[in-house]
Amino acid sequence: MSVEEERKSGWSLGRADDGRLELTVDGAPYGPVSADLSTIEVKSPAARSRRQPLARAVGLARSGGDMPRVCDATAGLGGDAWLLAALGCEVIALERSEVVFALLEDALERARATAPEICDRIQLVHGDALEIFANWPERGCGACPDVVFLDPMFPPKKKKAALERKEMRALRSVVGEDADASALLDAALKLARRRVVVKRPLHAESLALQPTVSQKGKSMRYDVYVQAQSK
Ligand SMILES: C[S@@+](CC[C@H](N)C(=O)[O-])C[C@H]1O[C@@H](n2cnc3c(N)ncnc32)[C@H](O)[C@@H]1O
Repeated sequence: MSVEEERKSGWSLGRADDGRLELTVDGAPYGPVSADLSTIEVKSPAARSRRQPLARAVGLARSGGDMPRVCDATAGLGGDAWLLAALGCEVIALERSEVVFALLEDALERARATAPEICDRIQLVHGDALEIFANWPERGCGACPDVVFLDPMFPPKKKKAALERKEMRALRSVVGEDADASALLDAALKLARRRVVVKRPLHAESLALQPTVSQKGKSMRYDVYVQAQSK
C-alpha cells in the first residue's frame, strides 16, 4: 500500500518540531507515534548478555564464535533489528508497509548521530518478504541469511487492562493482522541457512509448526526452528 493509499485509510505522516517523522492515527486516544531507536536500552549487562533469550534464540555462542547474518523479515519500528545489531549481528531488515518503512528509515537516520556503529550493521529494504525471499540474489540482498527472524503482529489483547503500547496500536491500525504469517514461516525455512526464529506471545500457539526449542522471556517467547543441516 502506498503512502497515499494508506493516508486515505485514516492516518497521516507529518514532521514534529524536532524534525522527526510522526504517524498520526485519526481519532486515536493517543498522540503521534514515531520510531525511536536511540531510547532502546542496549548498554546494560542484561542487554549485552549472550545468555538473554534473544541472543540464545538466534544462536549466539556464549563468547566469541562467528556472528550470524540475520534477516529481520518483519522489521516494524525496528526494535528487534536494533537489539540484534547492538549484539553484533549484521541485520537485513525488511518492511512491506510504506508508512512503517518511512518511520523506520527516519529513525535509523536520527540514530546515526549517537550510534553509527549499530546503524552500519543494519540494511533496510522496503518490500514484502515473501517476494524478496523468492528473488533474494536479484534484490541485492547478498548471501542467504544464517537466521530469519519473524515477529508478525501478535493477536490483539482481549483484556482492557492489557492494552498494547501506543506504537503497537498505531502499527496495527496501519498494517492490520499479518494474516499470511504461516506462509512467511514456510518461506523463511526455505531460505535460512541455520535457523528461523518466531517471536510469539508467551501463551499463544506456535505458528503452524512445532518448534525445535523455545526461549522464554517475561511476556513473550522465541520459537526456534533449527535447520536439520546447515545450508
Ligand atoms: C509486530 S510488527 C514488528 C515489530 C518489530 N519486531 C519491532 O521491534 O518494532 C510486524 C511488522 O511486520 C511487517 N510485516 C508483516 N509481514 C511482512 C512481510 N511479509 N514482509 C515485510 N514486512 C512484513 C508489518 O508490516 C509490521 O510492520
